[in-house]
Amino acid sequence: MPVMSYDTTDTTDTTDTTSTDVTSCGATEVYALGDDTEETARLRRQSEELRPEALALLSRVGLRPGQAAIDLGCGPAGTLGPLAGAVSPGGRVVGLDANAAHVAAARQYAADRGLANVEVLAGDARHTGLPADTFDLAHSRTLLVTIPEPAEVVAEMARVARPGGWVASQEADGGFALCHPPLPAWDRLWSLFHASFGRTGADLRLGRRLPELFRAAGLDEVEATVHASSYPVGHSRRTVIPDLVRSLRPVILELGLSDERELADVDAAVRLHLADPRTLMMPHLLVTAWGRKR
Ligand SMILES: C[S@@+](CC[C@H](N)C(=O)[O-])C[C@H]1O[C@@H](n2cnc3c(N)ncnc32)[C@H](O)[C@@H]1O
Repeated sequence: MPVMSYDTTDTTDTTDTTSTDVTSCGATEVYALGDDTEETARLRRQSEELRPEALALLSRVGLRPGQAAIDLGCGPAGTLGPLAGAVSPGGRVVGLDANAAHVAAARQYAADRGLANVEVLAGDARHTGLPADTFDLAHSRTLLVTIPEPAEVVAEMARVARPGGWVASQEADGGFALCHPPLPAWDRLWSLFHASFGRTGADLRLGRRLPELFRAAGLDEVEATVHASSYPVGHSRRTVIPDLVRSLRPVILELGLSDERELADVDAAVRLHLADPRTLMMPHLLVTAWGRKR
């Protein structure tokens, strides 16, 4: 299905890599994470780390060549690669993000890989301005967990999906995490993570709410799976929680939750613990949910 002639609000200079909120409506202000170079690098890694789960989801909803898909909150790479692969040949993929730096990075990601069927738009996932009933799949990953009103985005995903098409998300649930053997520095890091991540109302345990959010949006055939992955030494996702706390460092300092010295000490102690192959690390559950638009 061709989907590409939108009347979008995208007036962003694509060469601009600053962190302007291009939608001018506060999307990046309520977003739980930042966009410094370390965080952007973390999201690029995440795009690779969660690729197997993305591919499993796309095969479950049966995304096919020639179809149209959108990745809301795509970040610098998101699931653009797997989506483009699934709809090729003949299909189209739209990535959308509120952050200008991520939009520019995602456009570069698509250009570097020759993904000619991918278009990246600057916009707000809560109200994209895109036509209703357009996409065979409306997808988001680790977006709903980072914002205070995830139902707004789910409603928008349901609106832009075509009747009979799918809405699908993969979201973390931080209500369960394992770091064994126990370490006081881990406990401290975890509490700093919770306090800073949730400051704007983002729900770290959003994953478990996905099916109810999908049903509340009027979707049918809602199903969900939950994965608990542990990561060995050398896997980049093993340090995802200390990496996130590094991204949240300015927030933690601004809120007065800790100071530079304690943060450095806790970070070093946790990373040392995680460098030990005897330490078991399961940073979060990953909930995948999908539902069909009537
Ligand atoms: C945690 S990142 C996930 C990126 C990507 N989906 C992935 O899984 O790798 C969340 C992304 O959503 C974007 N975002 C946050 N709020 C948004 C909104 N209201 N509209 C569009 N994008 C938003 C952020 O800028 C960021 O790039």
